[in-house]
Amino acid sequence: MSPTYPSDVDPAVIGRLTCGSLRAVNVGERVELRGWLNRRRDFGGLVFLDVRDRFGVTQVVFNPEHQAAAHAAASDVRNEYVVRVSGTVRRRPAGTENPKLVTGEIEIDGDAIEVLNPSKTVPFNVNDDAEVDESLRLQYRYLDLRRPTMQANVILRHRLVKHMRDYLDARGFVEVETPLLIKSTPEGARDFLVPSSSAPGTFYALPQSPQQLKQLLMVAGFDRYFQIARCFRDEAQRADRQPEFTQLDIEMSFVDEVDVMGLAEDLYRELVETHTAKRLLAKPFPRLTYAEAMERFGIDRPDLRFGVELHDVSAALADTGFQAFKGVLAAGGRVKAIVVPGCAAYTRRELDELTEFAKRSGAKGLATIALTEEGVRSPIAKFLSKYELTALTGGIGAERGDLVLLVADSPAVVAKTLAALRTELGTRLGLVDQDVLAFCWVTDFPLLEWDEEGNRWDATHNPFSGYAMPDEHLLETDPGAVRAKQYDLVCNGHEVGGGSVRIHQRAAQERVFALMGHRPEDQQDRFGALLDALEYGAPPHGGVAMGIDRTVMLFADEDNIREVIAFPKNQRGADLMFDAPAPVTAEQLDDLGLQLAPADPPSTI
Ligand code: AMO
Ligand code: AMP
Repeated sequence: MSPTYPSDVDPAVIGRLTCGSLRAVNVGERVELRGWLNRRRDFGGLVFLDVRDRFGVTQVVFNPEHQAAAHAAASDVRNEYVVRVSGTVRRRPAGTENPKLVTGEIEIDGDAIEVLNPSKTVPFNVNDDAEVDESLRLQYRYLDLRRPTMQANVILRHRLVKHMRDYLDARGFVEVETPLLIKSTPEGARDFLVPSSSAPGTFYALPQSPQQLKQLLMVAGFDRYFQIARCFRDEAQRADRQPEFTQLDIEMSFVDEVDVMGLAEDLYRELVETHTAKRLLAKPFPRLTYAEAMERFGIDRPDLRFGVELHDVSAALADTGFQAFKGVLAAGGRVKAIVVPGCAAYTRRELDELTEFAKRSGAKGLATIALTEEGVRSPIAKFLSKYELTALTGGIGAERGDLVLLVADSPAVVAKTLAALRTELGTRLGLVDQDVLAFCWVTDFPLLEWDEEGNRWDATHNPFSGYAMPDEHLLETDPGAVRAKQYDLVCNGHEVGGGSVRIHQRAAQERVFALMGHRPEDQQDRFGALLDALEYGAPPHGGVAMGIDRTVMLFADEDNIREVIAFPKNQRGADLMFDAPAPVTAEQLDDLGLQLAPADPPSTI
């Protein structure tokens, strides 16, 4: 991707000419530019300097014949020196214009150059986007951020956040900052704790989100609130997760699910249409229930950029003689399949490799049926009746040349395995349209899921989500069947946002807490402020939070969230530039009344 520097800012506003501001209309003007030396080329006596700032690159030429001193000085500057150059703008000779640069029509006939500060040799080139070891990039992030793509990503992020603010401001929302030193507010991850020196032995928690605070703002009467909010979650890192990230956090009073989804959807439509060249797959965004998403894609954040949907073939196998399938169905499991287009010729080795892939998701095996030119090739064909074989191939849309993959297991394992295979093959086979942003809403999540370890029900999202009134009678009798007033915004297989209409009455909130195994005294201790507030005229309310880092990642076409965060942590949560986290002094620990447990003995492995 070529960098897009905004070069349209009036130099008078900036107070100096930028390296992106000169055009043909400036020919003949005497100018001065400041910036970094992007590249120096020496050609037949002439020295060409490309001078760069974040607005662009301008070529400056020094001629030894009429500017001997300046030419000599220009010959000594090296990449990344900070320089001030002056000269006269002239048209580039015909045929030497550079359409890739906004200033490509002109160059400066240089007559003076001053080095404002030299630079050591940089550890990697910053004037291109060549692959560089990421640890080195993170250690020297201030240099990495000079690179074209990183500049474009940071600027895109700024533009998106500004658009969000303007959009919400124009619709009557008030931005309110909420504290970072608070008490634990659960979103399902571990808290980062901050010890207090004024009350040794006690701790603040950094917020996993401003969830309780934004609900309290509804009670306070700020009926349309938003915040660009920092959130902290101590959890395993993934390509789209950081321990510290930013949400566009929104809460509104007197609304239902449709109002909140509509507001967020209109915003995202505007963002896509204004800030990317990508196409929206569908307008309005499709809405799928959680049950439908799981049924068709095996996952609650489906990538709708391609088909290859899951088919339930359990019914066709009700009387099967194939033991592996029969046993699974008898035990309440399912058999589901995907049709992989054009892969009937996969070799034994390729099929074995897919089987290993399936097993890593927990499947016991992977059955394959290839519809080759010569006929059906399948290790399980001999166990299937003609009717079953037809149902498992033509019955689910497989044609000659296709490969059918089947998994028999518990519904959860079937879903997980086929969803992983679908994603893997969709990418591998180039089925994914890279120019599309495929948004959809997923709704009607279960309110609660069974937590084996804790031996209790737990919130699938957060414990403040409201439940569908028609399901209220199931709360105590069949908690797992209760649907939440919860909605997630999904794009290209990523969860971009999530929210809900909340519980706004104390008795109802206590009832849900009780299901999650919180005793009344724990409830008061952990959530007392919110529970109390619900008794002082809390309006009905709901909201949503969009992941800003993930949004920018998708808009910028990056695979990793670190590419759109100025100063991110690495995969292990470390800041390689500051070398954090780091030990602290004994005095600091003393002040906090903390003692470290003896370190683990060194590993012998
Ligand atoms: P949730 O936990 O779904 O909801 O978070 C909302 C959005 O924040 C983003 N996100 C993350 N981005 C980067 N790194 C992470 N570790 C990370 N965790 C979450 C995702 C996600 O969709 N309080 C509720 C919102 C609400 O109900 O209003 C909440 O935080 O894009
Ligand atoms: P087996 O009878 O165990 O040799 O299995 C015959 C074929 O069925 C092999 O290709 C297995 O990979 C496949 N298979 C076995 N168990 C399952 C399962 N639970 N789901 C899908 N395929 C399976």
